[in-house]
Amino acid sequence: MIEIIIVAAGYLLGSLSAGVLVARALGLGDPRDAGSGNPGATNVLRLGGKKAAVLTLIGDGGKGMLAIWLAHAFNMIPSIIALTGLAAFIGHLYPVFHGFRGGKGVATGFGVLLAWSWPAGLAALFTWLLVAAVGRRSSLAALAAAVLAPIYLLLSPAPLVITLAMIPMAALTLYRHQDNIRRLLDGTEPRIGQRSR
Ligand code: G3P
Repeated sequence: MIEIIIVAAGYLLGSLSAGVLVARALGLGDPRDAGSGNPGATNVLRLGGKKAAVLTLIGDGGKGMLAIWLAHAFNMIPSIIALTGLAAFIGHLYPVFHGFRGGKGVATGFGVLLAWSWPAGLAALFTWLLVAAVGRRSSLAALAAAVLAPIYLLLSPAPLVITLAMIPMAALTLYRHQDNIRRLLDGTEPRIGQRSR
């Protein structure tokens, strides 16, 4: 029973969209109706600047970490810790508190990954920073980190079930970036911080 509550708590935590809440608090409107339409730090940066973006990043990453810490605090077995992370991630994509219109899961997925396995999380962060430094596109950096994350987990001491949970997370990250992939291919994806396409 407690296992169900922990996984449900993960989903509910994930459903709190930091981008929507931060933008609302700062009077920026709804990030889902402007820019790329994504309630993530990249789009909030476009719409509201660095402070709003950092708050969004901390909020979305933090809720992913919090979900996993909660599962650990209640001594959950690895499969429940894996499911709780997946639930938090799905909560961010399909949030019950925001009409199921959520984001692409990059910051939340990163928070979950870091709490699952800090070496894999740091490797994904390094990947993001490296690709962002070279390619200047947040989506490209996120896609590279998402594709490599299951491999990083496999090489880390994390239980195999955690790697198995990362695979649908990576696949969903790709799925939610369909528009970005199209824009990357036709050369119209904006650089980090750039407002117009
Ligand atoms: O973290 C989301 C990022 O990968 C893409 O954001 O707003 O450019 O679609 P955006």
